[in-house]
Amino acid sequence: MGADPVVEHNRRMWDRLARAGIPYTRPQGSPPRSRAALRRFLDPESRLKGVRIAGARVLALAAGGGWDPVVFAMLSAETTLLDLSRRQLDTVRDLARRRRVGLRILQGNMKDLSRFGPEEFDIVWHAHSLVFVDDAERVLREVGRVLAPGGTYVTSTMHPTTLRLYGTYRDGGWRPRTSYFDDGPIPHRDRRDATWEFDRIRVVAPTIEYGHRIETLVNGIAAAGMWVDGLWEHSPAPPDPSAEPGSDDHLESVFPAFLEIRARKPAGAPGAHKHPE
Ligand SMILES: C[S@@+](CC[C@H](N)C(=O)[O-])C[C@H]1O[C@@H](n2cnc3c(N)ncnc32)[C@H](O)[C@@H]1O
Repeated sequence: MGADPVVEHNRRMWDRLARAGIPYTRPQGSPPRSRAALRRFLDPESRLKGVRIAGARVLALAAGGGWDPVVFAMLSAETTLLDLSRRQLDTVRDLARRRRVGLRILQGNMKDLSRFGPEEFDIVWHAHSLVFVDDAERVLREVGRVLAPGGTYVTSTMHPTTLRLYGTYRDGGWRPRTSYFDDGPIPHRDRRDATWEFDRIRVVAPTIEYGHRIETLVNGIAAAGMWVDGLWEHSPAPPDPSAEPGSDDHLESVFPAFLEIRARKPAGAPGAHKHPE
């Protein structure tokens, strides 16, 4: 991990954020008891509709700090969690203990899944973290390799357009921090910009983030031998006409905060094919 400066930096930042206890590093809500309600809690938009979870081999990728890996285990999946941050992993370890479920918990970098064999997982569940790596295509290649034929991959990340626009409203308009075609990290303008604030918690943690273009993700998935079968762009809340101009709520009313993609590896897949020219 130390050989990758972006990953090493973000590992330190996530440990710092987890130590401060900002909401992204804390489990939200409390899983219900019934299996049907548990499934809705895990997957409110039914991205895994029709996919058997009980007995499935699940890789919860970069899923530290929250309930998802624990809920997969509660639904009788054979669950592996891989995350970069030891503190994020510790949180899940505690939750699993409290719910008396077992899962494999590993510290690692999503860019290198070489500890796993080919086709080792039926589901790869990968929420809100591709933004923290410079090379999304490499992660997608790794996912395509470890996913079994007939398997399902669900990923979400910050929307590449919106990510370039946060905090840029001036004189009635949004001014992107970088061009959509610039694949470098999204620049922080100042210290305030690198401060995560929730209620009374404020922590300076300038995570390095990348707004991977939609074509990079879709073509990366195709090149990894998977097929996109769903793509969604959404914001956490419905549009708010009263949002203060220039605020994050305003931005997320006019552009989607998140991009979510579901892909399948065809049963009997012949392996990865070439990237489209
Ligand atoms: C926004 S949190 C999302 C956590 C979880 N997926 C969820 O939705 O509740 C981002 C997570 O990505 C992890 N992460 C960042 N870069 C990573 C990398 N290169 N490899 C593995 N995990 C990484 C962080 O440690 C953090 O736990």
